Order: sequence, then C-alpha cells, then structure tokens
Amino acid sequence: MSSKLVICDHPLIQHKLTFIRDKDTKTKDFRELVDEVATLMAYEITRNMPLDTISVETPVATAKSKVLSGRMLGIVPILRAGLGMVDGILKLIPAAKVGHIGLSRDHETLQPSEYYINLPTDATERLLIVVDPMLATGGSANAAIDSLKKRGCTQIKLMVLIASPEGVSAVQKAHPDVDIYAAGVDEKLDEKGYIVPGLGDAGDRMFGTK
Ligand code: URA
Repeated sequence: MSSKLVICDHPLIQHKLTFIRDKDTKTKDFRELVDEVATLMAYEITRNMPLDTISVETPVATAKSKVLSGRMLGIVPILRAGLGMVDGILKLIPAAKVGHIGLSRDHETLQPSEYYINLPTDATERLLIVVDPMLATGGSANAAIDSLKKRGCTQIKLMVLIASPEGVSAVQKAHPDVDIYAAGVDEKLDEKGYIVPGLGDAGDRMFGTK
C-alpha cells in the first residue's frame, strides 16, 4: 500500500500559491506568502492528531474537553529552502521542536548527500514533519526520511509546496508509510531537475540569492 498524497486545496492556499509561483513576486512577498501557506498547511497536516479528553472548570460548570495527546511535533526542514516554512508552522504549533537536515544536491547527477543533521533529543517519540518547498526528483526527501528512520524515527510526514509526479512516486515507493502533503502537483521535471511550471529555485527566491 502506498502512502497518502493529500493536496491541500483550500482556496486561501491555492490563491497564495499563485503569487508564490509568479516570477515577478519579490523576495519579501515570496517569503511572507510561503510562511502563510505553511501555516495553512500545518492546519491540514495536524487534522488527525490524537486527542485526550480532560476535565476543565469553566466559570459555570465542569466541562469534558479535548487536549492534544502525548508529545508534540517535530519540524525538520531540509536546508536551506525548508527553513522558509518553519515559522509558519510554529505559529500554529509553538511547542514543536525543530531539527535540521542539510543536503546538497549534485547539479550533474542530482543525487543528494547529507552534510548536517541535528534532531531534537526526543525525536523518536514525536511525529516529525519533514518540510521542503519543492518535491522534485524525491532524492532529497527520500535521503532525509532515510536518515530519520536510521535514527529510529517512525512517525514521519512530508510537507511540500509543489511536487512533481516523479517525486511523489519516488517517495511513495521508498517510504509507503510517509504521507505527503502538497499545495500542488505539477506537470513534470525538466532536464535540470526543475519542476515545470513550478516556481523556479525556491531557496534563491526565498533568500534573494542566485
Ligand atoms: N528545487 C527547487 O528549488 N525548484 C525546483 O523546481 C526543483 C527543485
């Protein structure tokens, strides 16, 4: 059985994604829009989090009411573009811890290699959300998920802004237990590994580099 692909099709997400894609959107607006979409996607990705029922005293009576059960989340951005989605998620889940995975991509072979990893000490007990704006070949996402699993992490979801069909298939094949949340799935990859139509290089657009 392959993992779930959830398209976050809320109108606000789709509206903002259009302006994220637009080549004329400047760095400041790009960053703000990615942040806002990450918040809205965090709402979707946390939809099925387990709840406990507790008693709470209202000014009127005792109410049975719900609280999130167990440990909170861990957010694991893939450096560097994934960083742009962290604050947006933290707005909704401020108690989440944040780990980092650094992967560089060889521009010829498109293969990722890990140069940095630092996870919360209790990462294995948390639901981890791996974040990266672009799921292109799936190489980086798979390498990041491999790395988390190697360290004993078992509850993992992947959150991306835009996925390619190739990237979705690659992650579903390698990690059928990892659900993928995307704001859009585009047409294809080009010969340089860019998603078409996509949004260009997410890291460069987020940080104003070239
Ligand atoms: N990474 C990006 O930033 N953009 C793409 O289109 C593919 C990978």
